[in-house]
Amino acid sequence: YIHLLYCYSLVLSQLANRKVLIMNSSSSIRPDIERILFTKKQLLTRIGELADQLVADLPDSDEPPIFINIMGGAAHFFVHLTEAIGDRGQLIEDFAVFKSYDGEESTGTAKVLIDVRYRITNRDIVIVEDIVDTGITMRAILDLLESRHPRSILICTLLDKAEARIIKDLKIDYTGFRVEKGDFVIGFGLDLDDKYRHLPFVGILKQ
Ligand code: IMP
Repeated sequence: YIHLLYCYSLVLSQLANRKVLIMNSSSSIRPDIERILFTKKQLLTRIGELADQLVADLPDSDEPPIFINIMGGAAHFFVHLTEAIGDRGQLIEDFAVFKSYDGEESTGTAKVLIDVRYRITNRDIVIVEDIVDTGITMRAILDLLESRHPRSILICTLLDKAEARIIKDLKIDYTGFRVEKGDFVIGFGLDLDDKYRHLPFVGILKQ
């Protein structure tokens, strides 16, 4: 009986500890967010439409297209997009990491931190990006990838701040949603200094 009582008190104290832990780790980030722009449901519906278009448009080839996940912003979008394509077509997943932003400011250049793993010469590639803003990052990505002479390139971005574009000759093939150039958006992969990526919606950050 004493043994049982001991076990019971042990469980109770562990539960109490866990409660303290949960409370300490739950400092809400809701006050940082101005408003939600796109809910997860809206995002997934639109991503489904983009997937349908891609399935219809992908060029016919013996070799599957290489989808390039521009990490880390596009990571959430990439998973949902490729899953929405699902068993309707074969594809290869690759990724690259570029750096262009410092806090909320574009640095004006983009450098390669991690290059793609695949040889893309003569292959059909689909660049999957989170957001195109000034277009400087996408131009740098294109310059790098075009120099390797792929057979075709399609650009698919979840969000587009088209009015903020500095690089004018950029053709974006697929866009999920347009966003205002003055809004800094976060969530569903988009970040501010690597925070907010985990949010299951796209929201506007308070200035
Ligand atoms: P660009 O070079 O100005 O077109 O910026 C493109 C990159 O900046 C994107 O890949 C994003 O990582 C980042 N970026 C631009 N606007 C936002 C934003 O509103 N929220 C989060 N990241 C952004």
